[in-house]
Amino acid sequence: MTLQFSLGSVAPETVETPCVVVGVYENGLLTSAAARVDTAAHGAIKRQVESGDISGKAGTTAVLYAPEGIVAKRVLVVGLGTQKTFDGARYQKVNIEAVRAVGRLPVDSAVSYLTEVDVPGHDAAWRVRTAALGADFAAYRYTATFKPREKSAQPELTAITFAGGDDAQAGLAQATAMAEGVRFARELANLPPNICNPAYIASQAEQFAAQHDKVSCTVLDHEKMGELGFGSLLAVGRGSANKPKLVILEYKGGNEGDKPYAFVGKGITFDTGGISLKPGPGMEEMKFDMGGAAGVLGSFVATVKLGLPVNLVCVVPAVENMPDGDSYRPSDVLTSLSGLTIEVLNTDAEGRLILCDALTYTAQTFQPKVLIDAATLTGACVIALGKHASGLMTKQDDLAAELIAAGEHTLDRAWRLPLWDDYQVQLESGFADVANIGGKNAGAITAGCFLARFTEGQRWAHLDIAGTAWDEGRKGLGTGRPVSLLVQWLIDRAA
Ligand code: BES
Ligand code: MN
Ligand code: ZN
Repeated sequence: MTLQFSLGSVAPETVETPCVVVGVYENGLLTSAAARVDTAAHGAIKRQVESGDISGKAGTTAVLYAPEGIVAKRVLVVGLGTQKTFDGARYQKVNIEAVRAVGRLPVDSAVSYLTEVDVPGHDAAWRVRTAALGADFAAYRYTATFKPREKSAQPELTAITFAGGDDAQAGLAQATAMAEGVRFARELANLPPNICNPAYIASQAEQFAAQHDKVSCTVLDHEKMGELGFGSLLAVGRGSANKPKLVILEYKGGNEGDKPYAFVGKGITFDTGGISLKPGPGMEEMKFDMGGAAGVLGSFVATVKLGLPVNLVCVVPAVENMPDGDSYRPSDVLTSLSGLTIEVLNTDAEGRLILCDALTYTAQTFQPKVLIDAATLTGACVIALGKHASGLMTKQDDLAAELIAAGEHTLDRAWRLPLWDDYQVQLESGFADVANIGGKNAGAITAGCFLARFTEGQRWAHLDIAGTAWDEGRKGLGTGRPVSLLVQWLIDRAA
């Protein structure tokens, strides 16, 4: 369940809540809500600023318990950093940190006035939407595979009210739908691969379709894909007892007969590397190798919840990459659905091998208006861009601009890498039309170039989310990226 969001316009010093949230800038400058609370509470905030207990540094938090003169039980004071450099990214960060701090308190609800601060270039609807999405992100807890606990006596945060008027209402409605999509993606990504296998992903999609109007689901099993000629995708799955599925969700929110938008997501439910086996340390993170699938399915969920007036298809090749006596091997030559043959030089470059067939199938079956794939495709993309930006590749400059703008607006940012044909020589093979790896240089780009060979004539973009789909570390969780980017892009198309 996502957090419950609402809007309110009661003054911060008189609002009845277990916790009121206000901001303070780094030089001790109080926001107007903080100033009102401070005045009513006889200088309780200013005293802490003067003592140095509150620094105002971005993302820091301090709690004042039951200060006299105000109605709220607690005040959470959040540092906003310097006012001069305050921007959208900082705004998102402080909202997330605020809700993390509220989550550590024994409160079930809070009222935040951070939505009143000025963010250059953004309106009230954006502020409320960004705060609500950030709040739900911070409040998410993964619990699926822990022993069920007795409900603890400590109340848990379930609802947040944001200061805002009617002009922010649209932002709140969007946030609720987008948060559901993000949660869907995160939960699917976080599940272990012994639960979240290809059949599980298919069953989740079928369940969603059964519960929603205008949504239908088709699942192709490995036998059907064999008949149709998915020679590349099926080779990747051959080493696993969990047989591949192609999951197809269709949403008809637009005019009948209008070509759909299409999202395709890499759904490797676990990537061992196959015969080109990965090293042991860190291999567990490869349960997130279905992050692209989670991302496009989450985007689909959000689109349906928003009721956007578009037709959308979402195609997920769900496959496990395992070493086995029946695995595909380096030097195998595969015949893809498109007819192009592929020489396998590394079985760990498997994502592109399932995507090429899924992209061919999507283009042939639906002739989409626009085709976008999301994939945790290359470690090279993480080297290039780190964990902040997704890699964006497309030959269409206008499509690149649309996606970059959507990412910027939602702070789910992407950065473009070139897809020039100059790189294509790196994929030449002596035994097939194309090799599945391009050598050590420009690994994210050559992966994109491989996919480009299967999307000719399409209005197509590729998002490499290897760095952005999950947070690293033992307790790292799926992030739900690029759900907000993709949904914002669709909102912009529908407008
Ligand atoms: N799923 C991985 C990419 C990956 C690696 C994502 C690390 C996130 C973190 C992909 O299937 C893979 O193994 N790619 C290889 C390609 C190489 C063999 C050309 C890689 O990046 O090393
Ligand atoms: Mn791999
Ligand atoms: Zn992979």
